[in-house]
Amino acid sequence: MIDMTTSVPPAPVQAYDRLTRALHWATAGIVLLQFAMGETWSWFGAGWKGTARDIHTSIGFAFAVLLLFRLYWLFARRRRTTAGPADNRLAILVHLALYALLVAETMAGFEWRWSGTRPLFVFGAHLTCVPCRLDKTGHHIVATLHNYGAWTIMALAFGHAAVVLWRHYVRRDGILGRMLPAARRA
Ligand code: HEM
Ligand code: HEM
Repeated sequence: MIDMTTSVPPAPVQAYDRLTRALHWATAGIVLLQFAMGETWSWFGAGWKGTARDIHTSIGFAFAVLLLFRLYWLFARRRRTTAGPADNRLAILVHLALYALLVAETMAGFEWRWSGTRPLFVFGAHLTCVPCRLDKTGHHIVATLHNYGAWTIMALAFGHAAVVLWRHYVRRDGILGRMLPAARRA
């Protein structure tokens, strides 16, 4: 006899759970802010650049914690979503690429400091990592990776958002609603 209490899969939910939605929008906001800061701090003089770089690494540290938690939430299968016809392999691939790039970008950011001469400040505290030191070539590589990584993330995130908006407003499959609270779902 089939045990109906254990063999019936849970009904798919029509949107991501509340915490996943919060993590998604926090990630998007921080990534945009970090990018905008990194690309503009040299426009406003050396004083602001020094401060902005320490703000960038402090936010970067908070972002690393958020990202670790987000990955735990994803891989521990605590995050829930619809397994409906709107899902496709390309979307999954783009999401995985975004996660991978965010991890690489974060690691390269920390290494940029730990491999160079300028100390890493996180909310005023000096964070060191002696085994993380690299030679000049390594330092140059992580800096280049962080720089190009930022542009690649922005390009992919822009494409991702454009597809979401197209599907939502042109194809009308309501995909945007998966990342919105129930009251704002069309
Ligand atoms: C830097 C900006 C962004 C990043 C890094 C990002 C990243 C991601 C990732 C990794 C996922 C997969 C979530 C998962 O399965 O765990 C996702 C899903 C999603 N994102 Fe974004 N996102 C960004 C911006 C946006 C924007 C601006 C929008 C709205 C226009 C948006 C709408 C969505 C929606 C609706 C989903 C669910 C898609 C589905 O279930 O197939 N995202 N995003
Ligand atoms: C994932 C979001 C992030 C984005 C989009 C981003 C973006 C940028 C950009 C555009 C620059 C300027 C690049 C250049 O001048 O060539 C930069 C520099 C930098 N970022 Fe990030 N960043 C992110 C996260 C982080 C994290 C997590 C850290 C770790 C602490 C970090 C540490 C740094 C450092 C140390 C610099 C070099 C500052 C300098 O001395 O000029 N970033 N970032």
